[in-house]
Amino acid sequence: MTLIDGKKVADTIKEEIAAEVEKMVAEGKKRPHLAAVLVGHDGGSETYVANKVRSCEQCGFTSTLIRFEDDVTEEKLLEVIKQLNEDSDVDGFIVQLPLPKHISEQKIIEAIDYRKDVDGFHPVNVGRMSIGLPCFVSATPAGILELLARYAIDTKGRRCVVLGRSNIVGKPVATLMMQKHTPGDATVTVCHSATQNIKEICREADIIIAALGRPGFVTADMVKQGAVIIDVGTTRVPDASRKSGFRLCGDVDFANVAPLCSFITPVPGGVGPMTICSLMKNTLLAGQHAIY
Ligand code: GUN
Repeated sequence: MTLIDGKKVADTIKEEIAAEVEKMVAEGKKRPHLAAVLVGHDGGSETYVANKVRSCEQCGFTSTLIRFEDDVTEEKLLEVIKQLNEDSDVDGFIVQLPLPKHISEQKIIEAIDYRKDVDGFHPVNVGRMSIGLPCFVSATPAGILELLARYAIDTKGRRCVVLGRSNIVGKPVATLMMQKHTPGDATVTVCHSATQNIKEICREADIIIAALGRPGFVTADMVKQGAVIIDVGTTRVPDASRKSGFRLCGDVDFANVAPLCSFITPVPGGVGPMTICSLMKNTLLAGQHAIY
């Protein structure tokens, strides 16, 4: 069994990006600039955004953090997005989700210029991805494919089961895994809350990508000997022994499943570190005006 070290791969990629940025600067080009909009004080969002800003520094990017309180109006946010769309110094930006209930996330996402949408959430990017055109691919699916590529995991013709059909992980990763591309070229089945016989379907899988947000859902009796397991779960479970008061729990019963696998991602330290790294890659692409 090989443990997939997402932290190590992410660090390597950030070094590669930093080298590319220094080359750009030496050629007289500007540093890529990522802006992040954060609304409110949600603990998870605060941590994610702080990590994104720190990763920008590691990659040699300029970063700007724009903060608002929970009571910011949708109108005000749309105005800020318009300014960021028009600001030629900002190459890409994100609006951290979730947003307060009085703001339509979809309206906000669609207001972002797709050429600066480094989250890859805009319908133009989602549509382009689904037909295999150059675009910003959202961070988690891109990170998963990068891990499969860096560990030279064969996906062509393999049976891949995706657990979960969310817009930000399940649907896009299923789309990418079925594309005529490497990694990809797999035979993909998507399972969700209405699927019957999930255990039987999983037992047939060469690759399982678990993205349901249900701690320990994938048990040993669902996994074929030699399968590849990608665990996208990051549920916060209360843990009084930790300073933070919680620990991250994956969708896979790691202790019992790991001995059966050829490759498996741990939680934390698997897919998680790759997601910010994918955002950094998209920011580099934005800085190079590669998506237009
Ligand atoms: N909230 C959780 N994940 C993400 C992400 O990838 N991008 C944004 N903008 N918000 C998130």
